[in-house]
Amino acid sequence: MKDAAPRAVLLSDYAPYPFEIDEVRLTFRLDPHATRVLARIAFRPNPAAEPSRTMRLDGEALKLLSALIDGEEVEPRLDDTGLTVDVPDGAFVWEAEVEISPADNTALEGLYMSNGMYCTQCEAEGFRKITYYPNRPDVMAPFHVRIDGEAPVLLSNGNPVHFGEAFAEWHDPWPKPAYLFALVAGDLVAHPDTFTTKSGLPVALNIYVRPGDEGKADYAMDALKRSMRWDEETYGREYDLDVFNIVAVDDFNMGAMENKGLNIFNSKYVLASPETATDRDYELIEGIIAHEYFHNWTGNRITCRDWFQLCLKEGLTVFRDREFTGDQRSHAVKRIDDVVMLRARQFREDNGPLSHPVRPSSYIEINNFYTATVYEKGAEVIGMLKRLVGDEAYHRALDLYFERHDGQACTVEDWLAVFQDATGRDLHAFSHWYTQSGTPRLRVLEEFEDGTYTLHFQQETPPTPGQDEKGPQVLPIAVGLLSPEGDEIVPTTLLEMTESEQSFTFEGLSEKPVPSLLRGFSAPVILDRATSTEERAFLLANDTDPFTKWEAGRALARDVLIRMVTDDAQPGPAYLDALERVARDDTLDPAFRSLALALPSDDDMAQALADGGVTPDPLRINAANRALNQKIAEHLSDVLPQIYEAMEVVGPYTPDPKAAGRRSLRQTALALMSRTDGGKRAARQFETADNMTEQMGAITCLVRIGEGADQLDAFFRQWDHDRLVLDKWFALQAGLAKPGDTADTMRRLTEHPNFDWKNPNRFRSVIGGIAGNHAGFHEPSGAVYEQVIDWLVRLDPLNPQTTARMTTMFETWHRYDTDRQEMIRAALGRLRATEGLSRDTGEMVARILG
Ligand code: PHE
Ligand code: ZN
Repeated sequence: MKDAAPRAVLLSDYAPYPFEIDEVRLTFRLDPHATRVLARIAFRPNPAAEPSRTMRLDGEALKLLSALIDGEEVEPRLDDTGLTVDVPDGAFVWEAEVEISPADNTALEGLYMSNGMYCTQCEAEGFRKITYYPNRPDVMAPFHVRIDGEAPVLLSNGNPVHFGEAFAEWHDPWPKPAYLFALVAGDLVAHPDTFTTKSGLPVALNIYVRPGDEGKADYAMDALKRSMRWDEETYGREYDLDVFNIVAVDDFNMGAMENKGLNIFNSKYVLASPETATDRDYELIEGIIAHEYFHNWTGNRITCRDWFQLCLKEGLTVFRDREFTGDQRSHAVKRIDDVVMLRARQFREDNGPLSHPVRPSSYIEINNFYTATVYEKGAEVIGMLKRLVGDEAYHRALDLYFERHDGQACTVEDWLAVFQDATGRDLHAFSHWYTQSGTPRLRVLEEFEDGTYTLHFQQETPPTPGQDEKGPQVLPIAVGLLSPEGDEIVPTTLLEMTESEQSFTFEGLSEKPVPSLLRGFSAPVILDRATSTEERAFLLANDTDPFTKWEAGRALARDVLIRMVTDDAQPGPAYLDALERVARDDTLDPAFRSLALALPSDDDMAQALADGGVTPDPLRINAANRALNQKIAEHLSDVLPQIYEAMEVVGPYTPDPKAAGRRSLRQTALALMSRTDGGKRAARQFETADNMTEQMGAITCLVRIGEGADQLDAFFRQWDHDRLVLDKWFALQAGLAKPGDTADTMRRLTEHPNFDWKNPNRFRSVIGGIAGNHAGFHEPSGAVYEQVIDWLVRLDPLNPQTTARMTTMFETWHRYDTDRQEMIRAALGRLRATEGLSRDTGEMVARILG
C-alpha cells in the first residue's frame, strides 16, 4: 500500500524518550523463514522526560506472537510502524516474542541472508525490523544476546560468555543504541590475530570470511592493527572489549558498518590479494577498516542524540581516517585525492537540488542523508576548526570531548561547546557551517603599492533549496607569497575571513609577489580569481604547497578544456610545456606526478561550464578530453616511454604506498601512450601482468581506445569465479562505453548471465559505471536515461535504499540543454509515478525534480 504523504521528521520536534533501559536480553532462534526473536527489556521512567503511562515502540514487518509486561499478558495497539501499550507507574519489564523471515528480506536492512549466512544491518533504523524497540540513537542499553542456530559461527556484539552445541551467548557491557546491534551466523572461516593495548590488555582479533576467501584478509588485518595503534598514539583512545570481530559479506548496501565489537563489511572492502585487488582497492580497505575502527570512540562510545546529528560521528570519523591515511601514506597525495572527491561528489550535491546543510533540519527517510555533505563536508568543517584553533588546542578539545561525553548521545552544540570551553574561542559564527548549505564562492582581487600587498576577498553563497538568504561563513584562508623568482617570501599564513568582504595586507615587500591561495584547500569553497596562464604555470613549477601546486596545474587544464569546448581552441605551448616540466621532474613524488598529469573529469568540466553560464554539451566535453589527452601524449612522446620504464616495480607485488605510487605514474604514462601506439604496450602489459593493478590498468587503456575485445573475453574466462573481480569487468565496460554504444552496452551487460541485479555491488558496477560515463549516460537520444529508470523501477520494491542512492545520477539534470532536461524530467516522472514506490526513492525523486 502506498503512503499518501510520508511525514517529514523535524529537528525542532526532538523530545527525549520517556523511558530508559537498564538491560536488553535477546534470544534468537534462527530459521531462514521463521526466525523467532524474544526480547526482554527492563524499562524505567526517564527522569529527564515528561512522565508517560503509555509506551511507543517502533516495529516493522514483525509478526507479534506474545507480549508481556511484568509477566502479565498485555494487548498492545499495533499499527504499520510499531505499537503503543499502557505501562505501569515506575520500572517494568517488557517481554515480546516476534517472528521474522530473514530469507525474504531483500532490502538488506534488519536481519537478512547473504549466501546462506545470517547477518544484520541496523543503522539507521533497521533494528525495528528485528523486534519492537525504541529505535532511536539516544536510547542506550547494555545488550545480552543468545543465538540458537546450527551454523558453526554465531556472533554478536561485545564479549563471548558461553558457547555450546548450536548456541552462543554474548554480552556487551557498553550501553549502546540499537543501530549498533549486530548478529552474524554462518559457515565462516576466521583469520585470527591478537593485539595488546597500550595498557597491556590483550584483544583477540578475527576477520571472518566465506570458505574459499581465506588468505584474502591479511591486509585488512594489518590495517586493523595499525589503526588500533594509531588511535592510541594520536588520540589516546584504547580498545575496550576482549574481542574485535569483522565479518565480510557479499550483499551489503553500503561500504561497512561499525557495530560495537562486530564490524560488518562489504566484502569488497576486506578481501584482497595481489592477483585480485588493485592498489586503489588496498588503499580503500585500509581507509575503511580504519574508519569503522575509529567509530568505536567517535560514534559508539559517544554517539548521536538523533539522526540530524549524523555528522557528529561521520564528519569526525572521516576526518580521523583521512589523518590516518595521510600518516600512513602521503598527506599531500591524500589531500589532493580528497579534494578531487569532494568536488566530484559534495560540490556536485551542494550545487544542485539535493543541497542540504551538514546538519539537516528535516528528512523524510534518514537513509537518504548518508551523503557526501554529511560525510565529506562534515570532515572539512572539522579540518577548518582544527586549522583555526591549532593542533594543540584541537587535541585538548578532543580530550575534553571524550572525558565529558563518554557514554552519551550528543549534539553538534555539545561538540562546539567543548571547543569553546577548551580554547575560549567564540564559535557562534563558525557554527553556521553546520546549518547553512551551499558552496561559498570566494572572489579575490589584489593590489600592490609602496611595498604593501593587499588581498581583497569577497564571499557569497548562492541560494539552495529552502535557503534563499545566506550569511558570510568563517573562512580560514591559508596563504603564502612567492617572489617573481620563485622564492617563498611569506610562508603559509592563516587569514581568518569572517565578513562578506574583507582585505588583508602584507607590508615591506620589495616587489609584487605571486600569491598562493587556499593552501591545503583550507576551506571548501570555489575560488574565483582571474589569473594568467603564465602565473598558473609559475605556481605549478614553484609553489611549495603540494595542494596549490597541483591546483595550478588543474586550473590550467580546466582553462584549456573550456576554451577547446567553447571556441574550438587548441591547447597552447604554455600549458603543454608546464606539463612536460612536471613529467620530467624526478624530484617529485611519483604519486603526485601522476595526479598532476591527470585531467579533470567530464563531469567536473560540465560543472565548471555550467558555473560559467555555459550549457555543457557532454559530447563536446568528451571530444575535448580525448583531443587534449591525444595532444599531451604527442607532446610528451619522448618522456612517456622513459617514465614507463623507470617506474617499473620489480620483484613480487606489495601494496605499499611507494610501490603503488610508482605504478600509478606508470599507468598514467601507459594510458597516454596508448592514445598514440594503438594499445601495443598495453596489450603486452596485459599478457605479462602478475597483479590486478597492472592487469586492470592495461585492459582499461585498451577499452578506452576502443580496443581490448579479446582481452575482455580472456579476463572474463580467467575471473568468472571471482565475484569482486567480475564487478570490475562489468564496471569497466559500463564506464568506458562510447556514447553511440552505451545503450547497447548497457543492454548487453544487464542481460549477461552474471548480472545478478539483486547484489548491490553488481548492480552498482553496471548502473554506477554508466553514471560515471558522462558522455554515455547523457547520449543524445535519452535511451540510456530510460534504461536506467527501468532498472530503478525494478530494484525499488526489493531494495529501496540502493535504488534511492542511485537516483543521484540525475541530480545535475538542470545543467543541461532543454532536450535533455525534458527527457530526464519525463524519465524521473515515470519513476515517481510507479505504483508502490518506496519512501526512500519517493523522497529523492521529489527533491531532485524540485
Ligand atoms: N555508519 C556507516 C559508516 O559510515 C555507514 C552505514 C550507514 C552503513 C548506514 C550501513 C548503513 O561507517
Ligand atoms: Zn562512518
